Amino acid sequence: MTDRLLELFKQSDRDYISGEELSGKLNISRTAVWKQIERLKQQGFQFEAIPRKGYRLLSAPEKFDLPSLLAGLRTERFGRQLHLRDEVDSTQIVAQQLTAAGAPEGAVVLAELQTAGRGRMGRRWHSPKGKGLWFSLILRPDWLPLSQTPQLTLLTAVSLCRAVRQVTGLDAGIKWPNDLLIDGRKVAGILLEANVENGTLQHVVAGIGISVNLTEDDYPPDIRAIATSLAIAAGRRIDRSLLFVELLAEWERLYALYRSEGFAPIKLLWEALTVSLGREIVCRMPQETVEGFAEAIDEQGALLVRLNDGSVRKMFSGDVEF
Ligand code: BTN
Repeated sequence: MTDRLLELFKQSDRDYISGEELSGKLNISRTAVWKQIERLKQQGFQFEAIPRKGYRLLSAPEKFDLPSLLAGLRTERFGRQLHLRDEVDSTQIVAQQLTAAGAPEGAVVLAELQTAGRGRMGRRWHSPKGKGLWFSLILRPDWLPLSQTPQLTLLTAVSLCRAVRQVTGLDAGIKWPNDLLIDGRKVAGILLEANVENGTLQHVVAGIGISVNLTEDDYPPDIRAIATSLAIAAGRRIDRSLLFVELLAEWERLYALYRSEGFAPIKLLWEALTVSLGREIVCRMPQETVEGFAEAIDEQGALLVRLNDGSVRKMFSGDVEF
């Protein structure tokens, strides 16, 4: 049914079609027309609806184009094996399968839509079609001591923040450990899933979700108040492909720097981009909530929080609120 509806809009040459006309041509009720239009909106189509005039198709979802993405890459390995999918449950799951099948470091799974996008702490990640960058990168840092894995999260956050600033000009900041905020609202998140065997790090699937071109209407009501997108913040549509290639370039460069020079240069970059330090915070973990002053991150990437009794608590994970 949505295909026939789209066909009518294509024939209309971007003109308005009344609900009555649509209902007559498709032989369905006007409520059913409205439902079909809502379904198309979920898929990334944008419509204008004007009383007494009807509906007008404004834009179709923008789609990634594999050859142009590959041609735009400026990396040696990151993204060179690129698995582009229309729809997946989660790019993390597909990347884990590819890893088990021997995919090399740098392989990426990128999807237009995730039906079961995974967030941290068992949460869902809202990933509507054609609106974001939902992807997972395979890393095989067999040279990295297990205790230093948290540093990879901070490295990823720095790459993400720098790429977003570069492409959009927006004042994005990192909230420890892995959120990107603009104007105090979350615009992107990072999920690192590490595989460990016999106490050794085997591989890491690093997932990034960036809300690029979502509009306010694209968010479920429960997250609308705390989330934003790059397009909302910038007041213009952002080129997802450009951001993708910029981010992979930045990520590969910092990953190489980290391997050769260690965490010190990454830590400096992170400190310059974070909004978490030098303020009172509440850090929520599944079993416990800690309140205190966020003083610094240490050499491992842990957050050092000074408690009311003057002692310092080392945090390795958790949800931070200001
Ligand atoms: C968070 O902030 O909770 C982390 C969100 C991570 C979302 C990304 S989207 C691409 C990749 N696939 C997933 O299922 N999750 C990550």
